[in-house]
Amino acid sequence: MKKYVKMRFNADIENVTFARGTVASFLINEDLTLNEMNEIKTIVSEAITNAIVHGYLEDATKEVDFEIILENKILTLIVEDKGIGIEDVAKAREPLFSTKLETERAGLGFTIMEIFSDELKIESELGKGTKVIAKKSIK
Ligand SMILES: Nc1ncnc2c1ncn2[C@@H]1O[C@H](COP(=O)(O)OP(=O)(O)O)[C@@H](O)[C@H]1O
Ligand SMILES: [Mg+2]
Repeated sequence: MKKYVKMRFNADIENVTFARGTVASFLINEDLTLNEMNEIKTIVSEAITNAIVHGYLEDATKEVDFEIILENKILTLIVEDKGIGIEDVAKAREPLFSTKLETERAGLGFTIMEIFSDELKIESELGKGTKVIAKKSIK
């Protein structure tokens, strides 16, 4: 059976905490280790923070779509924004690459998401937005 949640929330950085809590609640009966749960919550925070900080330049009136799907022990997390988009996705995925290095960004978000996922897809178009799809198998 496919189990899923789809939600849309406004691009307020406080909603990162909400989304982390949501994914943890969604997986409550899955018997995950603390480590697995922390990896999943980290993927969620990094992707949603990017949507808000980079995609929407912190305009909290904009909207983020967040989907959690569990089917055949494969967890899929989808974070989508209709923001500025990414000019060069391959470059954005490189460790330490950030367009906001002058602030507190380390340029490691995609790298961390990649490490904690089994598969990470990034679809983006300049001026249209970005969709991040992370897949992780759970036992
Ligand atoms: N949702 C997004 N919309 C627009 N640009 C993005 C988005 N997510 C990531 N990026 C771009 O990819 C770069 C790398 O992201 P990331 O690895 O998370 O590093 P950081 O967030 O620390 O800059 C960002 O600096 C930004 O230029
Ligand atoms: Mg980031």
